[in-house]
Amino acid sequence: MAPAVRANKAVWQDTFGVKGEIRDRAATNDDELGDHKVLVKVEAWAINPCDYMLQDRNMGFAYPVVLGCDVAGTVEAVTPGSSAAAKFKVGDRVFGMTANNGFQDYVAVEDRLISKIPDGMAFREPVVLGLCVATSALFLFGEDYLNLSYPKIGAPKKGKSVLVWGGSSAVGSNAIQLTTAAGYDVIATCSKNNFDYVKGLGAVAVFDYKDPDVTEKLAAELDKGECAGILMAAGLKDGNLAAWKVAAASKQKLKFASSSYIDNMDEVPKNVDVKQLAPANFKPMPDCWFEMKEATFEGYLPEALAKGVYKIAPPPLVISKKGLEAVQEGIDLQRIIGEKGQAGIKEVIGRVKGANAGDKVSPVKLVIERA
Ligand SMILES: NC(=O)c1ccc[n+]([C@@H]2O[C@H](COP(=O)([O-])OP(=O)(O)OC[C@H]3O[C@@H](n4cnc5c(N)ncnc54)[C@H](OP(=O)(O)O)[C@@H]3O)[C@@H](O)[C@H]2O)c1
Repeated sequence: MAPAVRANKAVWQDTFGVKGEIRDRAATNDDELGDHKVLVKVEAWAINPCDYMLQDRNMGFAYPVVLGCDVAGTVEAVTPGSSAAAKFKVGDRVFGMTANNGFQDYVAVEDRLISKIPDGMAFREPVVLGLCVATSALFLFGEDYLNLSYPKIGAPKKGKSVLVWGGSSAVGSNAIQLTTAAGYDVIATCSKNNFDYVKGLGAVAVFDYKDPDVTEKLAAELDKGECAGILMAAGLKDGNLAAWKVAAASKQKLKFASSSYIDNMDEVPKNVDVKQLAPANFKPMPDCWFEMKEATFEGYLPEALAKGVYKIAPPPLVISKKGLEAVQEGIDLQRIIGEKGQAGIKEVIGRVKGANAGDKVSPVKLVIERA
């Protein structure tokens, strides 16, 4: 039988600093999937800050490229007898991530970067998790970073704390859940209006990072026992400096890792052990994500989702059901959130729902569904 030919569209990025354009792209053929790829018909896409950052900045890509990371959809094809076929079959509903390449109708995804969606769960829910979970896991559990124990259903309490700086961010929301599931007591920072949200994810103590006394308060909290490390999940340079002040004020020599590249290493205080994402310990994508499989797509995550003990966080805000046509709008809305913070979330909720979001805004993840 002749292999299926699928009409495929993609959002092409022709160079940096321009909008994406929808054009045809040949879909990966069934016989090109090899041992580890699964062809997925995408039903929902989530937008990440990196989507607008990679659109805006010159990353030295060989243009044109297709951006986009987080996808959820239905398995269309898998090589018979392959490693991927041992895990997935045509018709399975899956979610996960690509390391760019996601903004298209049909995407060939690594079988090690997807999981099955529990029955009854809509595509728009787990699609928010892929890249944030993978990023959190790498820096929490990677041996070159905080090197914490993996999360496990029923993991015993460790009697140690971990500080997640930026607990309300997308990375922070997932870092709190994964770290708690590994048995650590999570202490987190966020804005006051997100305290309940962050506690709802499992943090045992939450501090406002804008409080002028936050350094002393946090150092005292961490020094109540052993602290296994600090994860920076937001805030870039100013966040690093604030968290390093806490570490410097602590009586312990604390490990520190960040979900972003740290470009102010010259400002690290002497008693802080910064685990940098650097050429010396950099493993190329997607290999670095595969190593975290026990915590992510082939381990804890699908089990915890199926058992209902992992929250979909931040919750999806569906901005459109127009499929790829809405991707550029999603990137533009994400840019507003990135540039304006909470005021941006309020503006975006207002634009999407056609109403004022009110004074209390909570974190959201922008999602697009297929038409
Ligand atoms: N999203 C991903 O999958 C991903 C992947 C790789 C790397 N990263 C990097 O990880 C970082 C977080 O990304 P994200 O997508 O999780 O962000 P996000 O969801 O857009 O997080 C934004 C939130 O971070 C908090 N924040 C901002 N500045 C802060 C500061 N100085 N101190 C403490 N909290 C602060 C604010 O929380 P409050 O509203 O509570 O103040 C803000 O609402 C970024 O640097 C990003 O480049 C993200």
